[in-house]
Amino acid sequence: MDIDFRKYVANVQDFPEPGVLFRDISPLMADGKAYAAATDKIVEYAKSRGAEMIAGPEARGFIVGCPVAYNMGIGFAPARKKGKLPRETVSVTYDLEYGQGSLYMQKDAIKPGQKVLVVDDLMATGGTLAATIKLIEKLGGIVVGTAFLIELTDLHGRDKIKGYDMFTLMQY
Ligand code: PRP
Ligand code: ADE
Repeated sequence: MDIDFRKYVANVQDFPEPGVLFRDISPLMADGKAYAAATDKIVEYAKSRGAEMIAGPEARGFIVGCPVAYNMGIGFAPARKKGKLPRETVSVTYDLEYGQGSLYMQKDAIKPGQKVLVVDDLMATGGTLAATIKLIEKLGGIVVGTAFLIELTDLHGRDKIKGYDMFTLMQY
């Protein structure tokens, strides 16, 4: 039976600031069947791309990416915000739909030549995705695809990441 994933997204106007329509995936996470079904869809895509490692940005990228890695029996490389990683890192600064951010990865998070799939809950402007791709490539990883539960098409994030394959479960 196919699940209507949109039923599990809460739409919140003016969060975290006026003018932003926040797509909250908490209801999907709260429903075991829907969460597993969404994970399975990304696993299927990850396998089709030959992923050897999953990478995801803090924090919601962990929620979606870690179960995918666990299911496939492969590793997960976290891209974290400032001041969180204890050892040597590479970093990238990027623009968000609301504000600016920096992401860091530990130098041994990805092995040179490793095939990496980037996973996150949502793509808005594509800034976080572009930054995560840059981190992986700085470490010598090969980005074989990108996967999201939600793509906000009006923000044209895809235009920022031309040349990379993308899978999205829901588009708004
Ligand atoms: C959100 C979301 C994506 C990013 C998408 O994360 O989880 O990572 O924004 O926006 P973009 O495509 O414009 O870059 P956020 O930075 O709010 O952090 P969080 O996961 O810790 O809530
Ligand atoms: N991250 C960036 N933009 C977002 C939005 N509109 N909803 C949820 N998360 C987001």
